[in-house]
Amino acid sequence: MSGGTVHEDVDFMERRNQARQKLDDLTGAKGGDAEDRQTWFNEVYVRAGGDPAAIPWADLAPKAALVGWLKKHPGTGKKAIDIACGLGDNAEALAEAGYSTTAFDLSAEAVEWARRRFPKTLVSYKAADLFDLPQEWTGAFDLVHESYTVQALDGELRDAAFGAIASLIAPGGRLLFLNRVREDGTSANGPPWPVMPSEWAAFEELGLTLETESYFAIERPGRRIPHVLAVFRRGA
Ligand SMILES: C[S@@+](CC[C@H](N)C(=O)[O-])C[C@H]1O[C@@H](n2cnc3c(N)ncnc32)[C@H](O)[C@@H]1O
Repeated sequence: MSGGTVHEDVDFMERRNQARQKLDDLTGAKGGDAEDRQTWFNEVYVRAGGDPAAIPWADLAPKAALVGWLKKHPGTGKKAIDIACGLGDNAEALAEAGYSTTAFDLSAEAVEWARRRFPKTLVSYKAADLFDLPQEWTGAFDLVHESYTVQALDGELRDAAFGAIASLIAPGGRLLFLNRVREDGTSANGPPWPVMPSEWAAFEELGLTLETESYFAIERPGRRIPHVLAVFRRGA
């Protein structure tokens, strides 16, 4: 790839489309129970054989909305955690912005890959399950970053995700919630299943206060993809 994003790299995107077709045929690709879905995520990383084009969500760059927010909110040693970190770009952005950063993914292969990509990393990468988090992480983080995980889960996993994410936030800490969005009352033929405002309102029921909510679209060839960046805060 020479400059630009992976989405502008024709060869990369061709390899991605080919990989995607094979991945879509595997059990768990379109939903299913927790075991099916977790098996599928693991398979994606293992089958990729080291080619990031074969990881459908890998941008090989941090999310622009996160980078923009971090410019105004540097870490100065505060503790951050990146949920379902994939190949690590968002976690690295958090660390570069001065946060003492932990990042985890269900897939041990993803975590190993992230470590290989960033050999001098300051991030503490771990293999962990959002639905079975280490006890010592409860209420331990000043900043929790969640991008694109909730939209990748549906059914019971989706419902459980809000509580699991909120459990990580320290008193006075914040959550950055960045996902695709759809209007309340509409259906989605996922994955991904864009998130509805009435769904992320669950964070308020879990004791968080909504600080800001920004809607924007990401442009891809021939389409605009609506997103939200919502920032929540836990009382001190
Ligand atoms: C759509 S990707 C998003 C990756 C990254 N957060 C991003 O913004 O690009 C979803 C990620 O969630 C991970 N994942 C799925 N279920 C998980 C779970 N129960 N616990 C932790 N990670 C999980 C997958 O392995 C995958 O890396």
